[in-house]
Amino acid sequence: MCGIFAYLNYEVRRERSYILQVLFNGLRRLEYRGYDSAGISIDSFVDSSPSIPLVFRREGNIESLVKSVYQEVDRTGLNLEESFSIHAGIAHTRWATHGEPSPLNCHPQSSGAGNDFLVVHNGVVTNYQVLKKTLIRHGFTFESETDTEVIPKLAKYVFDRSSEEGGEMVTFSQVVLEVMRHLEGAYALIFKSRHYPNELIACKRGSPLLLGVKEFNDDSGNGSAFDAKFPSMNGNPKELFLSSDANAVVEHTKKVLVIEDGEVVHLKDGGVSIMKFDCEKEKHGKVLARPASVQRALSVLEMEVEQINKGKYEHYMQKEIHEQPESLTTTMRGRLIRGGSCKAKNVLLGGLKDHLKTIRRSRRIVFIGCGTSYNAALAARPILEELSGIPVTMEVASDLVDRQGPIYREDTAVFVSQSGETADTLQALHYALENGALCVGITNTVGSEIARNTHCGIHINAGCEIGVASTKAYTSQIVVMAMMALAVGGDAISSQERREAIIDGLFDLPNKVREVLKLDNEMKDLAQLLIAEQSLLVFGRGYNYATALEGALKVKEVALMHSEGILAGEMKHGPLALVDENLPIVVIATHDACFSKQQSVIQQLHARKGRLIVMCSEGDAAAACPGSSCRVIEVPRVEDCLQPVVNVVPLQLLAYHLTVLRGHNVDQPRNLAKSVTTQ
Ligand code: F6R
Repeated sequence: MCGIFAYLNYEVRRERSYILQVLFNGLRRLEYRGYDSAGISIDSFVDSSPSIPLVFRREGNIESLVKSVYQEVDRTGLNLEESFSIHAGIAHTRWATHGEPSPLNCHPQSSGAGNDFLVVHNGVVTNYQVLKKTLIRHGFTFESETDTEVIPKLAKYVFDRSSEEGGEMVTFSQVVLEVMRHLEGAYALIFKSRHYPNELIACKRGSPLLLGVKEFNDDSGNGSAFDAKFPSMNGNPKELFLSSDANAVVEHTKKVLVIEDGEVVHLKDGGVSIMKFDCEKEKHGKVLARPASVQRALSVLEMEVEQINKGKYEHYMQKEIHEQPESLTTTMRGRLIRGGSCKAKNVLLGGLKDHLKTIRRSRRIVFIGCGTSYNAALAARPILEELSGIPVTMEVASDLVDRQGPIYREDTAVFVSQSGETADTLQALHYALENGALCVGITNTVGSEIARNTHCGIHINAGCEIGVASTKAYTSQIVVMAMMALAVGGDAISSQERREAIIDGLFDLPNKVREVLKLDNEMKDLAQLLIAEQSLLVFGRGYNYATALEGALKVKEVALMHSEGILAGEMKHGPLALVDENLPIVVIATHDACFSKQQSVIQQLHARKGRLIVMCSEGDAAAACPGSSCRVIEVPRVEDCLQPVVNVVPLQLLAYHLTVLRGHNVDQPRNLAKSVTTQ
């Protein structure tokens, strides 16, 4: 929910202004994870020991923080040109969970006056109240409403207590390991301390965190060469980055280590050491236990900086809507076979192949997700049912967990999540694993919690999505699940024609999406017409019930207009009462088995003077719309199960333009964050 970032330069001389820029840019890249307040900590003195950490915190977005830091620099005369051969800075962008956005609730959270220990945190400490009470009994006072504040205070308590006991000074990692022993919940943490200048410690449990490594061990100084042995304890000049995700690291280096649960990463004297901490075991272990060191391999990021820039577009959401022909192509690359005359059309999903037999034998397939990911699964459900013949049920992740709904060993549970780190979905995953189901992950984030904790899965490969409202990840999710339906369905002769038609449709889908994107101006005009409306209904059914839900969700979350997706079959059972000549209603009536039913829905709405906007297949306008009173959106026709991919695009464009015209923040909608790592 929040974004954490750190930058440590070792034997690479950097001015304070440069260090600030790296921290600010890191936060800008992570801002989509939370943007209601932000903060950083840097050192005050050059190469002195101990250094006194300075802390800057500000409610509002990153630019408000940047402005306030420079105002403070002017006020205090802090020298921006001062340079450091070694320096460790930390940064945080927040999506409030405990305590409203305010300077006191921002991170870094501190152990108190003197900033002995500072912490940036992504996640939630669930036992913070117990810890807080204990610390208060030991004389600590608290200034924030956050759960995080117990962490630096606990670190100080551990440090002070071991200093009082005399003997050798406790190491930074020993302090952090002892703190971890007491924490419950989910966290990714970065610690900075006055007592351990120029060192940083990162650790995690549940929330994502990675380390980026740029080492300067060649003459070119470009940091490209790297010692393959890792962690490296050599003293080569280097820059190290810790970040909640790769977006903030890729512009510096592609060499990364995805930190795993229970790992404690200590950056000190140009070296990196990693220890593995078993949170459950250590809970009852010895104080200041010394877990074993581990060796890990660095991986190379497969992303380019251009992917995380807006390019010619004004907003990320706009860019991501328009790049769907390319993202869909990438999603399907290498997975569809349409060979010569003798080669059957087929689907190859490497991540599923060893488990297909088990999936085919399942008593039931359960799709589990939240928000847009749930909608994508709903769009794919009918084709999976049709091709596999297995009952497919839908579960909103939080609801499954609330109900402790039945999940059996004979079930295949499919977890759909763009981020792969949504707390509700993760909790449902742990629940399904406990119940012995085969767990399949469908995510857009390689190495994410869901990707790592499921038995098998499929990456959607939609590329990095930065706009908080999901667009291209949604369409790629549907395509992945359609391919999954083909793979699970097998190659029965009876369904061969249908399967081949779907595969042909998939090949042609990027072109059809390119065509539907030409409606951009038309959707802008429609947005202009709807700019002052309070509410919008979207009716769909069959394959496009999901489109109705997803279109309405987009309008709601970015344009901040009330909007509801309604199952058209339910119209007469309540929603019809809302219909009058004022309320705009989008009816999705593209050509499929439900078309005639949707025609009758349109007739009934028309008879009640409904203000209709009808989405129909090209050439169907006359059949779909009674009279000239309704506005028509004509979209290219594709295979019915792929139609939701095409149909959602005009609604994404409508939501985008409505948001711009209504003057709201497109990429960072009010109160939302891209990945919801708290419950
Ligand atoms: C809305 C949106 C959300 C997410 C939901 C689950 O545009 O993106 O509804 O789909 O928060 O997130 P993931 O897919 O990361 O599990």
